[in-house]
Amino acid sequence: MTIMDDTESRSAQETSDDDAVIYRHRIATRVTHWTWAIALFFLLLSGLQIFNAHPELYIGKQSGFEFENSVLSVRALQAADGTVGGYTTVLGHSFNTTGVLGVSGPADNPSYRGFPAWATLPSYQDLSTGRVVHFFFAWFFVAAFLVWFVSSLISGHLKRDILPSIADIKALPASIADHLRFRFHHDGRYNGLQKLAYAGVLLVIFPLIIATGLTMSPGMNAAWPWLLDIFGGRQTARTIHFLCMAALVVFFLIHIFMVLAAGPLNEMRSIITGWYRTDKKNNEERPV
Ligand code: HEM
Repeated sequence: MTIMDDTESRSAQETSDDDAVIYRHRIATRVTHWTWAIALFFLLLSGLQIFNAHPELYIGKQSGFEFENSVLSVRALQAADGTVGGYTTVLGHSFNTTGVLGVSGPADNPSYRGFPAWATLPSYQDLSTGRVVHFFFAWFFVAAFLVWFVSSLISGHLKRDILPSIADIKALPASIADHLRFRFHHDGRYNGLQKLAYAGVLLVIFPLIIATGLTMSPGMNAAWPWLLDIFGGRQTARTIHFLCMAALVVFFLIHIFMVLAAGPLNEMRSIITGWYRTDKKNNEERPV
């Protein structure tokens, strides 16, 4: 048994001359990670169902033709020749998104809806079920985030592994160059880019998506009316909520790509069991 500095714990077992298995992720990190991964899956699909009930986003306190404050809309529109297409308009610029957004489904039986059936839960238009599913998983998500935050604060995970240090910021150019060349250092610690991405998700996007969600709740408006003031109105809160969702989808795609590129078996083992195989040679050559 060798003692070495790792992301979350300090115990390690030597397995060969070149690598060692370390205990990298605590139980709280693993359980909360999988809770929010599952919760976010249901939140995304049910959220798109809710969005479809009124597939347009605005800035400000109110919506309607007279305000001209629309920033995004997904609509089925009829062209002069009578054909109906799906059009997505972002900040006044319209794109034909027929087949996915606005109009989807088989050509002989198209659906006129914002997001297509495969992206919503339930797949058919049903706002009330979408809301029940969304609010059910929202509380799991909030609970997982609170457990992660408190346990990470107490264990030191937040300060040690998530908040980038000055050294991490200085090493960012090298970290970006390494990522571009797909060179990964399996030393058990998060690199600067990883810390920035995780800190952005955990400390910016998660709190923001929760706060804007609460701002849209009439019950919360009565209890905490200042939430509406902070976000500049319900419509702006809804737009920020949607943008946070889009940012999480982008993060998710990059996250999965990085897990696959870095060695999926070792990475998955660490976030499921906690144990991670490090490259001892890298540790000695390049402590992070
Ligand atoms: C939207 C869903 C997801 C979000 C928001 C998310 C977010 C995160 C965050 C913030 C961490 C760092 C946790 C910490 O150290 O406290 C992490 C770690 C990790 N996640 Fe996810 N994750 C998601 C889904 C997934 C999925 C589906 C997989 C597997 C295919 C996965 C695999 C991993 C792995 C392997 C790590 C450890 C990475 C490492 O130790 O370098 N995640 N994730």
